[in-house]
Amino acid sequence: MGVQRLIVGISGASGCVYGLRLLEVLRNLNVETHLVVTRAAEKILESEVGLEIWEVRKLASQWYEVDDLSAPIASGSFSTMGMVVAPCSMKTLAGIAYGYSENLLLRAADVALKEGRRLILVPRETPLSSIHLENMLKLARMGVVILPASPAYYHKPKTIEDLVDYVVGKILDCLGLEHKLYRRWGEDKF
Ligand SMILES: Cc1cc2nc3c(=O)[nH]c(=O)nc-3n(C[C@H](O)[C@H](O)[C@H](O)COP(=O)(O)O)c2cc1C
Repeated sequence: MGVQRLIVGISGASGCVYGLRLLEVLRNLNVETHLVVTRAAEKILESEVGLEIWEVRKLASQWYEVDDLSAPIASGSFSTMGMVVAPCSMKTLAGIAYGYSENLLLRAADVALKEGRRLILVPRETPLSSIHLENMLKLARMGVVILPASPAYYHKPKTIEDLVDYVVGKILDCLGLEHKLYRRWGEDKF
């Protein structure tokens, strides 16, 4: 297999740290990342972690403006392993569920779906309304992985980073990428 290439979307939900850590880890694993960040996410990145968009873009191999619908990732002919949206807002999740591809993140997810590629969404929202749950069920039935940002506690996390790495590790598990981001149940040590 040639270069491993993945699209990473960061939408405007709390928990942008999941997307940031994912980009960092993928870079260490030599996975080529193609990043698209929504406008709402840009603001949350600034308020939650104090990063400006140009600083976030530096973590990716390639980045695109969210309104650039002629970017390579808008086409199924651009081959990728799939896409991860971390974190995924309920608005973006609804847009994907209904094929409403009004920005590049939504279009790239729509492409992943139509091409039968891996699509992993990481919602953070809580509690969830019946609208959110129905949208998630619709997507799960289409083969989308709904991977809530719900860290476990059996690996005895001590820091926020440990909690974030658990969720990022679960994303990598779904992508079939090996890692040592969290201690698995039954493993004494890393
Ligand atoms: C500080 C902050 C935190 C937010 N957290 C969430 C969240 O966790 N989940 C969510 O669905 N929306 C959240 N929102 C609302 C979304 O940002 C809003 O619905 C936005 O339109 C989403 O746009 P996007 O999906 O294009 O990024 C939050 C908004 C702000 C300002």
